[in-house]
Amino acid sequence: MKMKLNVLISLLISISLNISSVLALENTQAAVAMPDSYSANVAVDVLQRGGNAIDAAIAAQFVLAVTLPEAGNVGGGGFMTIYKDGQADFLDYREVAPLKAHRDMYLDDSGNVIENKSLYGILSSGVPGTVDGMWQAHKKYGSKPWQELLAPAIKFAEQGFIVHPEMVKNIQWRINSFNKEGVKVNFAQYFANAKAGEIFKQPELAATLKRISEKGRDGFYKGETAKIISQFMLKHGGIIGMPDLAEYKAIWRTPIQQSWREYQVITAPPPSSGGIAILQWLKMYDLVKPQSTILEHNSVQYMHLLAEIGKRVFADRAEYIGDPDFVSVAQAQLVDDKYIAMRAEGIRPNVVSDSESIEPGLKESEDTTHFSIVDKWGNAVSNTTTINYTFGSGVIVEGAGFILNDEMDDFSVKAGVANVYGAIGGQANEIQPNKRMVSSMTPTILLKNNEVQVVTGSPGGTTIITSVYQSILNVVEFGMSAEQAVNTPRFHHQLWPKNEIRYYSGINASTLAELQKLGYNFKQSNFGDVQLISRKNGVLAAASETNGRGKSIVIN
Ligand code: GLY
Repeated sequence: MKMKLNVLISLLISISLNISSVLALENTQAAVAMPDSYSANVAVDVLQRGGNAIDAAIAAQFVLAVTLPEAGNVGGGGFMTIYKDGQADFLDYREVAPLKAHRDMYLDDSGNVIENKSLYGILSSGVPGTVDGMWQAHKKYGSKPWQELLAPAIKFAEQGFIVHPEMVKNIQWRINSFNKEGVKVNFAQYFANAKAGEIFKQPELAATLKRISEKGRDGFYKGETAKIISQFMLKHGGIIGMPDLAEYKAIWRTPIQQSWREYQVITAPPPSSGGIAILQWLKMYDLVKPQSTILEHNSVQYMHLLAEIGKRVFADRAEYIGDPDFVSVAQAQLVDDKYIAMRAEGIRPNVVSDSESIEPGLKESEDTTHFSIVDKWGNAVSNTTTINYTFGSGVIVEGAGFILNDEMDDFSVKAGVANVYGAIGGQANEIQPNKRMVSSMTPTILLKNNEVQVVTGSPGGTTIITSVYQSILNVVEFGMSAEQAVNTPRFHHQLWPKNEIRYYSGINASTLAELQKLGYNFKQSNFGDVQLISRKNGVLAAASETNGRGKSIVIN
């Protein structure tokens, strides 16, 4: 009997893996591209019951906190780019540094960075923003009752869900790497017993979700949950207290909106670095590519030009981007056409610039998850959410059952010292109480004539930016289908490590050999998990990367 059940379970998992199914529904099309099958099915269910894209996003976000613990969360944060009733909007529910945080909190007495302190363990967490984010999104745009949207997540936490083999693989990798690095966290205690194809329950998390369902944001930031979090912090030397939680606020910001070719790009403003970065990348590409022809996809010339642009994008990122509530970010200047043209001037078709020679241009100054949703009214949500590295800090709040983020590592813990993604930062991104750390999350929507054409985003630390701009070029420049756009091999360059191109297998060996002659070196590793919806000739298509466990569905 057990064998038969397992066979059935594997069959169900394999059916739910990476398929684009088409369901019947009256009215116009809707679509979801989600990082797992549970969130996909729940989002479709909300849409089919008349909910809008924001309702579906809220329900999916809470489901992912249960079924995709590597990155889904209530203990983290994120960004949501929204296009609703013809208006663009942006919700910043990024974590903030605790009130007791200070600039040098990860340095020893000699001023050296203490290894792993900003990355793992109780001091690596920012104050979580997800619950207030979803609460604010619901207050402004929700059309379905809050409790109805929380119900699927509570069910999966309380009654359990069937564990995907990839989740078990990731758990094993995380436990082994914590052991190897001597990191003492309680992660294994909560997740070691998850078995592929079997039911996994999270009763403490279910109770937390019930409090959020009943009391809204106060079910997390005040009362029982807040007490559990602050007492847990006190017991284990953490610094997030009741005032941190009570004071947390998600912020509605004006998204970056810029034209590029015949599109209106709606994307993430600071504290994300991603919106500025993808616009620099897309606009600079149009200036340096041959004007008379379309370069061959992933050819030597294409990869070299985009790598050269990447050097300049990441030099600016390191210098200028910070929390706009703390530092002044020259957002308009950084995406201004004249500035971009000046930045493109030094790019040569056959010469690799020295990383040392690339300075920021203005003279004065791996895990995460994404989903994309379009509803039948043509509204769109592009949402990226994170606890930073895979399974965040590795710390689960005992009694509340959720994983805490390790987002403090996204601050510049010391000027010039790289974070876990190899990104270097300066003063603009140094730690201050209540400040948001710079992010690469880039949830993006492209409109043409006010109609949604592309909804895209990805996890992947600094490679998020690359996954997003390349997915856009794949659709717009190369006319790829959604399926091709997410699955075609990508490559990434970010100034440092020097001249290193990170690439997917599948890029031609002869292309790499040519690039090596130019001076590049290589690291083969896949990155990201793009969830993309595109519209071609008026018809929606949705796709999830086949190397993830995503599921995309178009509702006709
Ligand atoms: N934690 C990854 C990012 O926000 O960029």
